[in-house]
Amino acid sequence: MAHARRPFRVLVTAGPTREHIDPVRYLTNESSGRMGFELAAAAARAGHRVTLVTGPVALPTPPGVKRIDVVSARDMLAAARRAFRGSDVLFMCAAVADWRPLRKRTGKWRKESESKEVARIELVRNPDILASLARARGERLVVGFALETGSGKARAREKLRRKGLDYIVLNGPTALGATHTRVTILGRDGSERTLPRGTKRAVAEFLVRLDRPARPSG
Ligand code: CTP
Repeated sequence: MAHARRPFRVLVTAGPTREHIDPVRYLTNESSGRMGFELAAAAARAGHRVTLVTGPVALPTPPGVKRIDVVSARDMLAAARRAFRGSDVLFMCAAVADWRPLRKRTGKWRKESESKEVARIELVRNPDILASLARARGERLVVGFALETGSGKARAREKLRRKGLDYIVLNGPTALGATHTRVTILGRDGSERTLPRGTKRAVAEFLVRLDRPARPSG
């Protein structure tokens, strides 16, 4: 974002989503929201106007950041879509659940019988928020994240292309809940930068200074 001097309107999504099975149970994941909150904080410190759409996390709102709390992937899609319209940059850091229960029970899910040993929850695909927003991106800078086990670089490149992103930030499962991380930033222009392992704050400081990648020629 160093290519212009004016403040940007930055949208960051963070944290996990919760997909309810019944009023008291849900499917979720280990995301702590730290990377997204550090990004929002770093962007605000850099003078940008920041909206943070976050799933349920136990983190304080960074100073100067407008925070919107959501629960499910579908809530996040609706909130992010509204905020995206007035944004110049998107950092899609949230760990969105790929699946949700096909139906949310209105009452508590009972065991039904003491002899029942196996039960099933039918799942349905959640919308891909990032891909959906990126389709209507216009001139916006769009940055996604990928948590991959193993090297994962080829898979992350494929996501970058499939979802129509400028950059994808690749990290490993040890980043979950941790204060430190080691990331590789893959660009649409074919660029690749691995940052030394550092605090999420330091990584966030770097990410908010990313320049727009060169447009592929042709
Ligand atoms: N993402 C999203 N909506 C989803 C799933 C993912 O917006 N329903 C976003 C994440 O916020 C992240 C990027 O897409 O920025 C990559 O997410 P990931 O779950 O790694 O990618 P998937 O396409 O779901 O691939 P996989 O099969 O590896 O889960």
